[in-house]
Amino acid sequence: MTVTRPPRHFLRLTDLTPTEARTLLGRASELKRMQRAGEPYAPLTHKVMGMIFEKASTRTRVSFEAGMAQFGGHAIFLSPRDTQLGRGEPIADSARVLSRMVDVIMIRTFAHAVVEEFAAHSRVPVINALTDYLHPCQLLADMQTWFEHRGDIRGRTVVWVGDGNNMCQSYLEAAGLFDFQLRIACPEGFDPDPGLLAAAGERCVLLRDPREAVTGADLVVTDVWTSMGQEAEQEARLRAFAGYIVDEAMMALAQPNALFMHCLPAHRGEEVSAGVIDGPQSVVWDEAENRLHSQKALLEFLLLGPVSKAVG
Ligand code: CP
Ligand code: NVA
Repeated sequence: MTVTRPPRHFLRLTDLTPTEARTLLGRASELKRMQRAGEPYAPLTHKVMGMIFEKASTRTRVSFEAGMAQFGGHAIFLSPRDTQLGRGEPIADSARVLSRMVDVIMIRTFAHAVVEEFAAHSRVPVINALTDYLHPCQLLADMQTWFEHRGDIRGRTVVWVGDGNNMCQSYLEAAGLFDFQLRIACPEGFDPDPGLLAAAGERCVLLRDPREAVTGADLVVTDVWTSMGQEAEQEARLRAFAGYIVDEAMMALAQPNALFMHCLPAHRGEEVSAGVIDGPQSVVWDEAENRLHSQKALLEFLLLGPVSKAVG
């Protein structure tokens, strides 16, 4: 009888050990160098990725699709509008069927339980490409960007300003995985998940005043105030988040060499001023580009195993 190992999934950052995460980031920078040097590298020839998108995407779709093509593989875009998923075929059945046909599956959806259920019934690795709860792929890119600009993030102070959303909650997991201090400034009623806050322990503090939070920060991060699926709350959210814009006055409170990140898409004049996102401390374009390289490293890791030494 052959015993098949269960696949490695990436549903949250803590599906990686600290060493695996650091190894993966080092590999991401190496893959970036190889890509820029034009060195052909096709470790996933004939491999196929299924991409299920229940929400819109620019960066995630293009980075995964381009990454698979660069690796010699192929990606299939699956929208619920055009598949039986949108007509109520059970998640478990879809997982059983798709995972007999493709080598890896990426899902962007609403409830986190959907990716968990899908993974539980999949024969191949499943990647969380954003749920209402977490956005772990974005954190790989953010961490790669920090390491490339500033070296190790261990012991640094990262400040999250705005909604306690999927990105904020992924930062909570990242604080433990990469060993940095996290200050979160959000208005009452928009706190992140208490369970994730508790798990972060002394690494994280929750504040109401964004100015107090940003003072002395090494990295300032924000995101939209209205995430996908919350469009009906937009007016109320605009009112609740007044005063939480990351502008030049707020950045002036951070360390002089502090960086600014935003997963994008951004709304200039709402959560961030044009002066900050288009200014010298912003690394948002590197951050967006690194979605490609870090996810290629993730695909290689999940399908082929670790290939090089850790950063930091
Ligand atoms: N940051 C991010 O996930 O962007 P998309 O929604 O465009 O994929
Ligand atoms: N918090 C945002 C992130 C988009 C990449 C959302 O969920 O819409």
